[in-house]
Amino acid sequence: MFGSRSLAGLGNIWRFSYMCYDNGGGAFLVPYFVALITTGIPLMILEYALGHKEHGSSALSFAKIGRRHEWLGWWMPVFVMFGIMLYYSVIIGWCANFAYYSLSLKWGQDAQAFFYKEFLGLSKGVFNLGGIRWPIFISTLLVWIVTWLICYKEINHGIERACEIFMPALFILTLVLVIWGVTLPGALNGIKWYLKPDFSKIWNLKVWVAAYGQIFFTLSLAFGIMITYASYLPEESDLVKNALITSITNCGYSFIAGFAVFSVIGYMATTKGVAISEVIDKGPALAFIVYPEAISLLPMLNKLFGVLFFSALLIAGLSSGVSLVEAMNSAILDKFGNRHQLTRAKVVTALCGCGFLGSLVFTSGAGLFWLDIVDHFITQYGLVVAGLLECIIVGWVVKAYILRKHINEVSSWKLNKAWDFMIRIFTPAVLLYMVGSSLIGEFSEPYGNYPVAALLLLGLGWIAATIVLAVAVTIPKWEPNKLKYERRPEEDHLIV
Ligand code: TRP
Repeated sequence: MFGSRSLAGLGNIWRFSYMCYDNGGGAFLVPYFVALITTGIPLMILEYALGHKEHGSSALSFAKIGRRHEWLGWWMPVFVMFGIMLYYSVIIGWCANFAYYSLSLKWGQDAQAFFYKEFLGLSKGVFNLGGIRWPIFISTLLVWIVTWLICYKEINHGIERACEIFMPALFILTLVLVIWGVTLPGALNGIKWYLKPDFSKIWNLKVWVAAYGQIFFTLSLAFGIMITYASYLPEESDLVKNALITSITNCGYSFIAGFAVFSVIGYMATTKGVAISEVIDKGPALAFIVYPEAISLLPMLNKLFGVLFFSALLIAGLSSGVSLVEAMNSAILDKFGNRHQLTRAKVVTALCGCGFLGSLVFTSGAGLFWLDIVDHFITQYGLVVAGLLECIIVGWVVKAYILRKHINEVSSWKLNKAWDFMIRIFTPAVLLYMVGSSLIGEFSEPYGNYPVAALLLLGLGWIAATIVLAVAVTIPKWEPNKLKYERRPEEDHLIV
């Protein structure tokens, strides 16, 4: 569930490709890697260290820092569970649908038309729901049942083991697509577009904000997941090395997968005789158009390949989903477990039940619009803001050097004061600037040309609702002994 391998998820294939395409290919890559180095890695180390030092879920870890800060430890898993996960589970469902469609290469000659019309049955607008799409409904239901079963029966190490096979498999399948893709006519144009920084776009702030958001998403930063995961690590864990390897392999994988995507886009542009930026519609559908095209183009074993590819993606997505339910579950059990005789079984059942109900709207004909809006706001103003607050609380309240001391005690690669500077000043300043200017931009140009009412309701409304929920669960008091290591931070690493 939490293994560093299973960190790869749909974010690497599905989200990375359309973020990169929408934001101008090469123009996106530069901010993406800058974001990895200036925010992704320092924050990954921070989250590993915080969970490892405080021995708690995100809620417990922040409550130990101070009750005033506890809400942040709730807000993170809450807006992911009742925001990101609701549509993420539907996309895992799409993978199941496409694994099945691969048996007959059902998308035929025009994967784009198939996706929008036949598969999604895209409605006319955000508020025109257009009814449930039953194939998507069924696969989403299955996703939630499987997630529930894995968490309920505690067979998480089972999925861990499955990931040990499926993650490398996914990587190898992606490599095959890359290798075959680059031989296609026109592929090189696509790759050039992918790699060549377009300096006219690079100064566009939107591209930067999108890149920072993608780094948070793909590394599951500010989800509460990494903090919870780190709280289970043994005392002697090399935090710096773990954090570095996890971040770099994750982003490296996305980067490599990008070659497959952009080769195929280059090929499509050449055969259709249109510009690369015009060959496909922008938005979250991209991976489910380009990968099917790529699978059809393979010289042999297309069907088998398609089934394997989408199944591997399905497993990667499932393991990400499970990691989140576990993070939420452990926050709830940490605080309310003994008091209210809550058990894992009850909590997990309630979470998956609510999750499924919340997913339903994303299985409708307007699902793609909802997904696009909720994802935009939650990534930008949920993940990025939570990351910003996390830096400030750890940097200034806990004091970065205290956490660094803990990190250096267990890590073979030592951090120096530069990390303190990043966490206290540099990263929060950059994130604050991003969030501030993108918020201003939101008012001057409505996101994606959606109606403003939809943006306010689904975007800001959704965020506000999750904050209210997070604050509400903060109010009840903790059992006294739960927080008692708060005052002896020097010794708590001795307690397992
Ligand atoms: N890192 C994951 C990815 O790239 C995202 C993720 C992890 C996630 N856990 C999650 C998304 C739980 C939603 C819910 O896909």
